[in-house]
Amino acid sequence: MLNSIPRHDELVQSAAAAGQAHIFKFYDSLSDADKRHLDLQAAAIDWDLIARLISDVVLKPEPFTLPNNIEPAPYFSYLPADAAMRDHYTLAKQRGVTLLREGKIAAFVVAGGQGTRLGWPGPKGTFPATPIKKKPLFQCFVEYIRAMEARHHTTIPFYIMTSTVNHGATVDFFKKHQYFSMPESQIMFFSQDMLPAVGFDGKVLLESPCSMALSPNGHGGSLLALHKSGALSDMRRRGVTQISYFQVDNPIVRCIDPLFIGLHDLHEADMSSKMLPKAFGKEKLGNFCLVDGKIVVIEYSDLPGELAEARLPDGQLKFRAGSIALHAIRRSFVEQLNAHGFALPYHRAEKKVPHIDLNSGEIINPAKPNAVKMETFVFDALPLAQQSIIYETDRLDEFAPIKNSEGVDSPASAADIITRRNANWLDSAHIKTPRKPDGSPDAVIELSASFAIYPEDVADKYTRVPEIQPGTQVYLE
Ligand code: UTP
Repeated sequence: MLNSIPRHDELVQSAAAAGQAHIFKFYDSLSDADKRHLDLQAAAIDWDLIARLISDVVLKPEPFTLPNNIEPAPYFSYLPADAAMRDHYTLAKQRGVTLLREGKIAAFVVAGGQGTRLGWPGPKGTFPATPIKKKPLFQCFVEYIRAMEARHHTTIPFYIMTSTVNHGATVDFFKKHQYFSMPESQIMFFSQDMLPAVGFDGKVLLESPCSMALSPNGHGGSLLALHKSGALSDMRRRGVTQISYFQVDNPIVRCIDPLFIGLHDLHEADMSSKMLPKAFGKEKLGNFCLVDGKIVVIEYSDLPGELAEARLPDGQLKFRAGSIALHAIRRSFVEQLNAHGFALPYHRAEKKVPHIDLNSGEIINPAKPNAVKMETFVFDALPLAQQSIIYETDRLDEFAPIKNSEGVDSPASAADIITRRNANWLDSAHIKTPRKPDGSPDAVIELSASFAIYPEDVADKYTRVPEIQPGTQVYLE
């Protein structure tokens, strides 16, 4: 929030210049506190940007044009293909571990989204995600980070981006749980910027007489928020050089992966990514592509079917690298972006946005999309990087997204993935897990991060695992 803000008449002028004076329609009838609330909101908005976005993104959106020279992006495979690559991975992992030991890696979760699809009444990071202990997502991340710290005798600062929709509730949640035993001084919370939703007529919507209908400006806003919040300075002070970026919705994400960060650092990359081979051509993952030598992500909805489905002679998908929003980002890259000014493209999303009718003051809950929300995406910074690498990961080992309340990418599908992953890890250590006739585990199995974060961690712990009976629940820590 701003301490000193422009005078009210100046705010009216700025909003009016962008054609949005109506946001003050009810101003005279508001209490002093509500007047200040609206003034503060208006002061935090870049009205020149809003005017430009209304023209370019809301009223006259440019159709997406596919570059005519796209190629599949190259990547490092999950397992090294030959002896030379094995040596390279060993070196990369050593580099990652050295960076960790020297305290040069920070964990960074973007948790400012609204999580509307999940419909959980609170920040998504507070959602109880694991199958037995029902650990909230935030707890999963802290436990992973603490396990990495213990393993490598180091300290890993944890940066958490929120937005005004969930900042207070996120901070309160951590306080209530004593930061899940991480020292409070190691955690920094900060909020991203907000943007107003705009009706199809180009008018900013009000959610109440004293408030615009605001939503966070997309995970791309993190690159600016890291700078504006002082998080980058904090990282500099602590000696952090690499940022391990992940999303809030994946309970088994490797918040920090020494091999991936080591590869990224060894190749002097500015911003790198993890990928998953797509399960099928039109899977709803962004596609890593190469355009004019730069890595770009083309959204699944923008990649034409014939390319999405194209196969190589060996039968593999030609464009197989799907984005799961895991990045390694060099701190100095984010600093350079902010020092020289950068602009990520704004994406348009048509949404149902409740708002008040300007004439009657009544609340309208639209039955179909009535407004445009504008967001930037972090992967649009990839082409700004001088160097960028992609590393493949394993779907079952690291990807259990919780996006929807049921069905695909839901709490139930994530719980199922977690148990299948854990059963496979136990099996690989010759610890027998009961199986149903279709081969799926016939028990619910949860492993804490202190027990295992890689399959090979299970091998030396087999004496601690009781015999697993069919139909039971087993939690190992
Ligand atoms: P999603 O694209 O899943 O969006 O965000 P969402 O807002 O969380 O959920 P829906 O679409 O309303 O259901 C992917 C990740 O990016 C973060 C989210 O918190 C999540 O970790 N994010 C998204 C932000 O931090 N800020 C944003 O403005 C948008």
